Amino acid sequence: MRSGARRVFAACTALALAACAPADLDDDPAVVPPVFGADVLQRWLAAGFYEAGGWMCEAAPHATAGLSPHGTIRTCKNPVALGAEAAADWPVDSAWVTELYAGSGAQRGFTVMRRSEPSAGSASWYWFQEADGAAPSADGWGFEGPPLTDCSACHVTAGTGANPGHGFVF
Ligand code: HEC
Repeated sequence: MRSGARRVFAACTALALAACAPADLDDDPAVVPPVFGADVLQRWLAAGFYEAGGWMCEAAPHATAGLSPHGTIRTCKNPVALGAEAAADWPVDSAWVTELYAGSGAQRGFTVMRRSEPSAGSASWYWFQEADGAAPSADGWGFEGPPLTDCSACHVTAGTGANPGHGFVF
């Protein structure tokens, strides 16, 4: 199913994202971040879907503590994740976006996580991070490269030991 959706996006990347989205809810841009690479995701972030209806965002940026390398962040979660906190595992299409902030208060980037497969483990999550105008430092599923070694290697500890959260989400 994913490769079919990717072809749809490839055929119409010059058009507005919403107009190109496959009709099924799984890839509704109002609900989930696209998982078709940095260009598409950056356009989705700029369009502000994650702050629109159905998502829930923290009121203001706040400092992170403990394990977090993210500094000051403001996190938003999508309608699939909302209300699923008590479930043993996050449903497919659960997603989070964090805005990253500099000490000056200026926004400096984003991180994104989206669960896209029902299987267990890091590979069922899409991981993305960009900051300070540099090329994305993570962009892909967590079975290899930076999404595995930089993102999920830490997020896998959510809910273990003294860490809050569960299922890769703190
Ligand atoms: C050393 C540990 C660590 C690493 C490495 C790390 N994170 Fe996080 N991340 C955290 C912690 C802890 C939080 C919760 C911060 C808070 O809410 O105060 C978090 C929060 C998040 C959130 C919001 C959802 C949640 O779990 O609360 C996203 C999205 C996210 N990180 C993405 C990423 C991505 C993408 C990468 C890799 C580029 C990454 N993280 C690397 C520790 C880490």
